[in-house]
Amino acid sequence: MKRLMQLLCFLALVLFLAAPFLTQAAHHEGKKMMKPAASGKELWDYLTKVEYAKKFSLWPGKGKLYKGREPHGALLTTYVNKKALGAIEGKKGVMPLGAIVVKENYKPDKTLAAITVMFKVDKYNPQANDWFWVKYAPDGSIQKEGKVGGCIGCHGQVKANDYLFTGKLK
Ligand code: HEC
Repeated sequence: MKRLMQLLCFLALVLFLAAPFLTQAAHHEGKKMMKPAASGKELWDYLTKVEYAKKFSLWPGKGKLYKGREPHGALLTTYVNKKALGAIEGKKGVMPLGAIVVKENYKPDKTLAAITVMFKVDKYNPQANDWFWVKYAPDGSIQKEGKVGGCIGCHGQVKANDYLFTGKLK
């Protein structure tokens, strides 16, 4: 009985000492989950963890596998996170920091060809509305990322609509 009490006291002590570290670790993980940096790798890890295809919404008014234009793909499915959805539905004119638009690009036979993402990051690129641009292969490997000239050049046609083609923000 005495040994058992000793053991319990010991365990309580260990937990007491470890608690700050455990909660700190959990907190750190939570922060990372909430805010990926302007990094293709971190953004992919985030999108995978939150399961964007289940948890994000489809772009309002667009179904799955709708017809796309050059250069993206014959068929497209476009997901938006809550912040992006709020800006579209609220006709905000621009998307807020933290907005994410994920577009899956499919070949005519419906195989996934690439995933292109726009992610709005605080002070990332003020000349072009702070969008961080990424193109992933279907396995998540990064083909292009950052302030990609090609993406910005073409999307610049719709600068007045926060560089977004798919629907009016106003
Ligand atoms: C030559 C023009 C062009 C280039 C280059 C281009 N896009 Fe697009 N993008 C479009 C068009 C047009 C749409 C609307 C969807 C459609 O009809 O294909 C679009 C849609 C998107 C969307 C959905 C949100 C929106 O704007 O409607 C994302 C995300 C996106 N593109 C990311 C990228 C990324 C990342 C790159 C660079 C790797 C890129 N795009 C390069 C023309 C372009």
